[in-house]
Amino acid sequence: MPWYSEEQIEEVRSESDIVSVIGKYVRLKRTGSGYTGLCPFHNEKTPSFHVNPARQMYKCFGCGVGGNVLTFVMEYENLTFPEAMEMLAEEAGIDLPRQEMTAQQKQQESIRQTLLEINKKAARYYFALLKSPRGKPGYDYLKKRELTDETILHFGLGYAGQGGGELYQYMKKEGYSDSLLKETGLFKMDERGAYDKFWNRVMFPIMDANNRVIGFGGRVMGDAKPKYLNSPETKIFDKSRNLFGLNYAKRGKRNNMILCEGYMDVIALHQAGFTNAVASLGTAFTEQQANLIRRYTDEVLLTYDSDGAGVKAAMRAIPMLRRAGITAKVIHMEPYKDPDEFIKNMGPEEFEKRIEEAQNSFFFEIEVVKRSYSMSDPEQKTKFIHEIARKLLVFEDKIQRDNYLESVAAMYNIRTEDLRQLVIRYGNQMPTGYREVMEERQQERIRKGKKKETREGINYSYRLLLSWLIEEPSVFSQIKEWILPADFEDGIYRRAAEELYEQLEKGEVEPARIIGHFQEIEEQNKVAAMFQTSFGHELQRDEKQKAITDLVIKIKEYSIEKQAGEITDLNELQKLVRQKKLLQSAVKLHIS
Ligand code: UTP
Ligand code: MN
Repeated sequence: MPWYSEEQIEEVRSESDIVSVIGKYVRLKRTGSGYTGLCPFHNEKTPSFHVNPARQMYKCFGCGVGGNVLTFVMEYENLTFPEAMEMLAEEAGIDLPRQEMTAQQKQQESIRQTLLEINKKAARYYFALLKSPRGKPGYDYLKKRELTDETILHFGLGYAGQGGGELYQYMKKEGYSDSLLKETGLFKMDERGAYDKFWNRVMFPIMDANNRVIGFGGRVMGDAKPKYLNSPETKIFDKSRNLFGLNYAKRGKRNNMILCEGYMDVIALHQAGFTNAVASLGTAFTEQQANLIRRYTDEVLLTYDSDGAGVKAAMRAIPMLRRAGITAKVIHMEPYKDPDEFIKNMGPEEFEKRIEEAQNSFFFEIEVVKRSYSMSDPEQKTKFIHEIARKLLVFEDKIQRDNYLESVAAMYNIRTEDLRQLVIRYGNQMPTGYREVMEERQQERIRKGKKKETREGINYSYRLLLSWLIEEPSVFSQIKEWILPADFEDGIYRRAAEELYEQLEKGEVEPARIIGHFQEIEEQNKVAAMFQTSFGHELQRDEKQKAITDLVIKIKEYSIEKQAGEITDLNELQKLVRQKKLLQSAVKLHIS
């Protein structure tokens, strides 16, 4: 695992002149103290991409991306942080010996390696069992699902025996300690002994993008519940950052990916020749998964089940994909509920047709929104039109927005000019990135039926606040009166906040250094992304003031809510509740 010291990162950053690096990709023109060009991260006709040689930072006032030379190549070349380091070091002629890992890092790394080894052995064990006489129930089941032997081998499908302790016995014979075995999540251990988590199920090994088995899904062979059991998250299994089938899909020849809901859908699609199918891992689709996909493609075809839950899942995934820079389309599978059933009944050619007919995700969203309004009621129709206007603002590119505006107006019999006026009105009300978050949050609330901040939303707020602080260190003194690193949820955001606050106190803001303090590549990427988040536009002062005030309140409220959840003392709790109530009126920020 590559791991670079702060000094190395600083050396690479300072030896790579941002103007000449970006100049290789973007035609830059000198303007005043800096350079401008057409933004390489979104479509535009007039340049809003700025490079500041003094600060060695770039910033697009159109789409909001920004960062330093390292984040630029990460973003542009789809590289991980260490890869970006290597590339820039090579160009600058810097020798980059990798830092020795500390003893603790070595130990963690060795545990991870062993966990991978055990998972691999488990997958082999389940596969061998499936192919043995004792595995007949599992094998027959997969055959009944019309999987070929080739597919079974390709995905390494297996069978967990009926005994309930066979895998454990096997692993003990292989010499693994109980404490390690426990960490794999494949066993349940209590005072009475150790058992296999999976028994009498067909097994689906879950592989990461590098073909390493990191966990399992196990399906019952009948109608019993739960239908699937999945490995819990472990040191090697992060459900929000992996996708089932990605190890094959990333090599596919097609230039897009098909995102489905289930393991069986992925397998059926691959068997039918659609080797670009992936699925999330028994959990809802995440922003990290969107970013993961973005490394390989910028178009995703959604094949969520046509039932209510599937539509909701699609409505959630589309904005995430959009934020990651991915265009989404929706494949309709009616009258079947998922790709597996569809392929079985209609065959691959028909599916190919459905791909060609896939619906633009924006039109899909509007259509779904429309379902909650009755068009025969003028009041409701008005509300619907207003909602369309607000939604149109997700398109930051004016031409693109106009195109959508005209199509939607035609589709729903709205006068184009009326709709345009509304869009302009809403557009003036709120800054872009911010508005999108708010909208999503509101939707999320409606869905959940409660007024509670979601993790997805709060993480986005954290990112916005941190990016803002980097861009405008002058607001720091006011922000820190309200928000301290301890107000960030424990984990990567808090650590990043701690470091950034320290830098801000010293008056030396250098995001790249912070990235370098994180050891895992995934963490580094996440932190780099954190510093790229932006409100997206050059805002008016009062807009900015309102946006950032709201953000501070949001984060503080969430922090108080979390504290309140942990407190048992009634007095303390009441104090918190009072504090929270006062926030709205108390937080006053002045942005110059
Ligand atoms: P589905 O119920 O659509 O499963 O759940 P499927 O993959 O199509 O399986 P078949 O065709 O019924 O055999 C979609 C996904 O949701 C997760 C699994 O990842 C599954 O693939 N899931 C579902 C669970 O984790 N647990 C469950 O009990 C059910
Ligand atoms: Mn299914």
